[in-house]
Amino acid sequence: MTVAPHFQFKNGALHAEDIPLSDLARQFGTPLYVYSRQALRDAWEAYRSAAQGRNVLVCFGMKANSNLAVLNEFKNLGSGFDIVSGGELARVLAVGGDASRIVFSGVGKQAWEMQAALKAGVKCFNVESEAELLRLAEVAKQAGTIAPVSLRVNPDVDAQTHPYISTGLKENKFGIAIESAVAVYQLAATLPSLEIVGVDCHIGSQITEVSPYLDALEKLIKLIETLADLGIHLKHLDLGGGIGIRYTDETLLSPTVLLDKIFQALDAHKLSHLQLVLEPGRSLVGNAGVLLTTVEYLKHSDAKNFAIVDAAMNDLLRPTLYDAWHSVEAVVPRSNTSESKAYDIVGPICESGDWLARDREFDLQQGDLLAIMSAGAYAFTMASQYNTRPRAAEIMVDGVHAHVVRPRETVESLFASETVID
Ligand code: LLP
Repeated sequence: MTVAPHFQFKNGALHAEDIPLSDLARQFGTPLYVYSRQALRDAWEAYRSAAQGRNVLVCFGMKANSNLAVLNEFKNLGSGFDIVSGGELARVLAVGGDASRIVFSGVGKQAWEMQAALKAGVKCFNVESEAELLRLAEVAKQAGTIAPVSLRVNPDVDAQTHPYISTGLKENKFGIAIESAVAVYQLAATLPSLEIVGVDCHIGSQITEVSPYLDALEKLIKLIETLADLGIHLKHLDLGGGIGIRYTDETLLSPTVLLDKIFQALDAHKLSHLQLVLEPGRSLVGNAGVLLTTVEYLKHSDAKNFAIVDAAMNDLLRPTLYDAWHSVEAVVPRSNTSESKAYDIVGPICESGDWLARDREFDLQQGDLLAIMSAGAYAFTMASQYNTRPRAAEIMVDGVHAHVVRPRETVESLFASETVID
């Protein structure tokens, strides 16, 4: 069993749904991102069935994977979108996504991005500071329209995750301190080009416990009640994204448990009329993708064994940036493991930080294929062209069919728009 249900071994070879990954490598080359369409559908279904007909809007946190084929799949399943830039807005509109199901997050929205989102008619702006609120009011006024606003508050709870992906603590740059939120709502209420519609928080990512969500919710409920006493009534409550996935053997928080607990608390405070918005990213796509790579060279020294592969930190930044652990599978494992050694799996980039996995036991030979698992989230979207490496192709597998949903970049395209000066 691998960590990803739609990437399993059949007849001794790792498959994406019904296609051997080695066939895909042969056909499309490596490095290669391979996604499973059914995995996207199953991940969506976990949220849909958890909602049980309650008023829940799931807005895919598309920073995790913004390929149009992925967005289109979620759009067709009924998802909304959590965007953080004018670029992400353009992607949603490009697949015909419904703007009234878009929440616009992010700490540094520029005026042009606000204008584009107002024109599209987004559900709300998750505003993160008083300065942003004033800018949004001005932009909306200039456009002769009214901007729907939700304040992203910082509830100061510890999401118990990696510091780089923890966002709900006081010292993080995100949100408006919960103690200041009432004053900012009162200010918003005086600005005629704004309409207050909700409250929002996002406390971090790869969260595996329900308690941080419930701690944040308690604080938000108090705020909602205080606002109601002041005559400010909200329509929705957005608890952000953050549900973790299995990279190794994590015990997971299921959407069902999360939603049941949230609605229990809302019911207890007579607040279940509020729409609940969630912004899951990783949990919708993380285990719907792998990064397929070929072993170029094996290198043995006294201290280490290295497998130098054709994928690198530019294709998957998470290991070096967060010390993240991705499971790695040999696509066709050898049965005789007496030759196995502990390898560091590293890329060709000229940085010591260019590693993908460390100390993994394999019996490897040059030319072998490896699958770096859980690469559906924050892999391609964080990829770069460092070392003038074309970004890898993305393939979506649907049963026995493989679709190229983004071709491999060509080397020439990487500098085609550059010019030299005399
Ligand atoms: N909503 C907001 C406002 C966010 O900032 C994020 C992620 C999400 C939703 C989606 O969170 P998720 O469900 O995916 O945890 N690059 C890092 C993760 C950064 C997350 C940033 N914000 C990684 O590779 O682990």
